Amino acid sequence: MNPTVVVGCSQLVTLAGPPRPRIREEMRYLAVVENGAMWIENGRVVRTGTRAEIEPLITAETHVIDAKGCAVLPGFVDAHTHPVFGGNRADEFEKRAAGATYQEIAAASGGIRSTVRKTRDATEDSLQAAARRYEEWFLRGGTTTIEAKSGYGLTLDDELKLLRVIRRLNDTGPIRYVPTFLGAHEIPDEFRGRPADYVDLVLDEMLPAARHLAAYCDVFCEPGIFSIDQSRTILSRAKSLGYGLRLHADQLSLSGGAQLAAELGAATADHLERADAAGIAALASAAVQPVLLPASVYALGSNLYPDARAMIDAGLAIVLATDFNPGSSPTPSMAIVLSLASTHLRMSPAEAISAATINAAWSLGLGPETGSLEPGKRADFVIHDCADWREIGYFFGVEHPRAVYTGGVLAYSRA
Ligand code: NIG
Ligand code: FE
Repeated sequence: MNPTVVVGCSQLVTLAGPPRPRIREEMRYLAVVENGAMWIENGRVVRTGTRAEIEPLITAETHVIDAKGCAVLPGFVDAHTHPVFGGNRADEFEKRAAGATYQEIAAASGGIRSTVRKTRDATEDSLQAAARRYEEWFLRGGTTTIEAKSGYGLTLDDELKLLRVIRRLNDTGPIRYVPTFLGAHEIPDEFRGRPADYVDLVLDEMLPAARHLAAYCDVFCEPGIFSIDQSRTILSRAKSLGYGLRLHADQLSLSGGAQLAAELGAATADHLERADAAGIAALASAAVQPVLLPASVYALGSNLYPDARAMIDAGLAIVLATDFNPGSSPTPSMAIVLSLASTHLRMSPAEAISAATINAAWSLGLGPETGSLEPGKRADFVIHDCADWREIGYFFGVEHPRAVYTGGVLAYSRA
């Protein structure tokens, strides 16, 4: 492959910096090169600099990409999604508009369990086709890496089915998927009234069998779903099998999920809308990264957003993600998440970009690979249709990307 150069960047937003997640005021520094350019070889960034520094390297063999005065950023890393599911829940969207709550719908056998029924009925190929449609949405929004959870199968075979779909998506498309096993997402219908038996199934059969298909294990830790003790049992077993840990924590109630994540040395604690000062201090003591999901708060019609400012003040390396799923957060848009971060979490636009790129990459163990445009990293980058990167979160509801590249290869371009 001939060398590639990206020229004509009004701003090349590199996020170059120390090789670790960014905290406190580091999150406000994006290492922007005005009139920037980037040299790429074999799908990896070789050099970034000003136009004057890079353009003299161009020869007749160089493949030139002209950003035409637009801002160029690393692709977004969406570190919390549930993208493989059958059907959708537009019917529940309508019910919630009429006043029903997410919890009421779940208690009446809707919610996650209704998606589980549709997902079990779906073939692997039809799930794959549906997920490809969502993948296209992610790509058009400038996302190049996705953490993807199972969790709508809830039998051994159906959970493995979802993880195989995620593997196929990763192997056959432009986006990189990081697979997470979420067998403990809900108690399925056939185990109602005997949750301990379902926990045993997760422990004894699912966790060992899913290991070769998943890098992380996650649990929906919530009173009435999986208690702190059940979550601890599942995640401890997962840890002993070599999974990294993530945890849906303190979303709908404050139950000590943050402390559990710290106790187990989880990579992330996700949601945290109800986390208190003690929970935040626990996360800080164990360097657990919070994954904040403001689109799910918005889509549930709630105003209880997580306390991002307290988390930044405590030195936590915040991550922002969509939580894309058919119930609480039906959006693949990281741009909308950036907007919500600045309007409702009071994160500066720069803090939000750090959380959506470099910090997200580190939370998935991919810090050395992606999330910034630095020598040696994969050339995952996006040409946005604006000259000033701050417009990405500011003009919301707009798909800014004009072109998206993964590993230096064009993955999407606007017609
Ligand atoms: O992250 N809280 C649990 N899981 C998802 C919701 C999944 C669904 O409603 O289908 C979440 O919000
Ligand atoms: Fe989630």
